Amino acid sequence: SRYNSLIDLRKGEIGREIFSSRDIYEEELEKVFTRAWLFVGHESQIPEPGDFFSSRMGGESVILARDKKRKVHVFLNSCRHRGMKVCQYDHGNTQLFTCPYHSWSYTTDGKLFGVPQFKSLYEGCMEKEAWSLIEVPRMETYKGTVWASWDKDAPDLLTYLGDAKTHLDLALDCRDGREGGSEVLFGVHKWIIPCNWKFAAENFLGDTYHNVSHRSVDLIGIGPSAEAGVKGRRDNEMEKARHVWVNFPAGHGVHSAIMPEDWEFLNTYQNNPVVAEYFREAHAKRKERLGAERHRLIPFVGTIYPNVSFHGNQPRNLCVWHPHGPESTEAWRFFLVDADAPQEVKDFLRSYYMRYSGPAGMTEQDDMENWNYATAGSRGVIAKRYPYNYTQSLGRVGTDGPVAGNVSLQVSEENPRQFYRRWRDYMNGADWDTLLGRRDAGPASIAG
Ligand code: FES
Repeated sequence: SRYNSLIDLRKGEIGREIFSSRDIYEEELEKVFTRAWLFVGHESQIPEPGDFFSSRMGGESVILARDKKRKVHVFLNSCRHRGMKVCQYDHGNTQLFTCPYHSWSYTTDGKLFGVPQFKSLYEGCMEKEAWSLIEVPRMETYKGTVWASWDKDAPDLLTYLGDAKTHLDLALDCRDGREGGSEVLFGVHKWIIPCNWKFAAENFLGDTYHNVSHRSVDLIGIGPSAEAGVKGRRDNEMEKARHVWVNFPAGHGVHSAIMPEDWEFLNTYQNNPVVAEYFREAHAKRKERLGAERHRLIPFVGTIYPNVSFHGNQPRNLCVWHPHGPESTEAWRFFLVDADAPQEVKDFLRSYYMRYSGPAGMTEQDDMENWNYATAGSRGVIAKRYPYNYTQSLGRVGTDGPVAGNVSLQVSEENPRQFYRRWRDYMNGADWDTLLGRRDAGPASIAG
């Protein structure tokens, strides 16, 4: 197929046009984004009956809503009459979603409720019950996060996440090790980046190799592990950790660290003693709760296939790379915080997170520039004749690492190779056994 020649994993080469072609993009919307599990929001954004949050799945607007009975739904945000958005707001609370075009209205559980002049114009012509909002066939919540898929045959979410869950958990759990208990700091950062969505998703699979791009962040010492008086992340405790780059059969990939046995609280918050104390205490409780071994695993970044990335430590967030065109990505960043943290801690983290990532954050600006020009470099007539090089650490990966999954102990492009291998399978219309890696157990680097 076209995709087998564009994704050549034996050679470690990937054709540039997958990052710029309009027709490949249109095909992705159908073949990837109507099948994979997609993150749509967090329950903390819709705590009360009638609460809603406008989200996206692929290129389409969806509504995440909590109905009167507190049940969570995900609906296509499109009127059944002529397609107008029935919800025009980013978030809020309502009893009805009323379409602005001809005023059909829907209840928060999606039922068509009001149709103007129903008796005279529609009675006998239409059964209202048949014209509810279109609801996703599959929706699951996990530790507060809400995920949905348009594929009724998709495996359950935990099967889909596989062992990547262990790393994602560390982003979703409280800092003191309690399960879940996080909330989204109000509100969600949304912005458009002139790049293909895959460059962003790939970057978060663990491309530590690009750290040079963030040299300015290192120099001023605001990195996630910068300690008081120490400028440069390379000189601190993180350097003593054992780093792992891990990929999973469903296409997810992470970069995490296994800290030294006696690792100490990393004081990123030297300028605020209240915040520093909060995290010092959380660190001690976490060690007690998880035990010395589990306590050592600290996640940096990861991507859950296809487009949900996370920062696991500080900053702690989920970022969705919504496809917005072959050369355009709408980024949504959800910052996470312990729901019961003191207000002073939440306020401090809000500023810290915005300084670090998001559209005005220092690291994000570095990354966006790279992805922007990489996308432009994927478009040229001559440029497209030459594939990209994905040979880094080819063949140096195994399943006998210190954590579950295909583990590399050095920086590696094995994670993106696995990611694009799955992307190729989706584009080839593979079944779920293949998409979950049940048919091809070998390491990604030797698969053709
Ligand atoms: Fe919604 Fe006509 S498009 S009522």
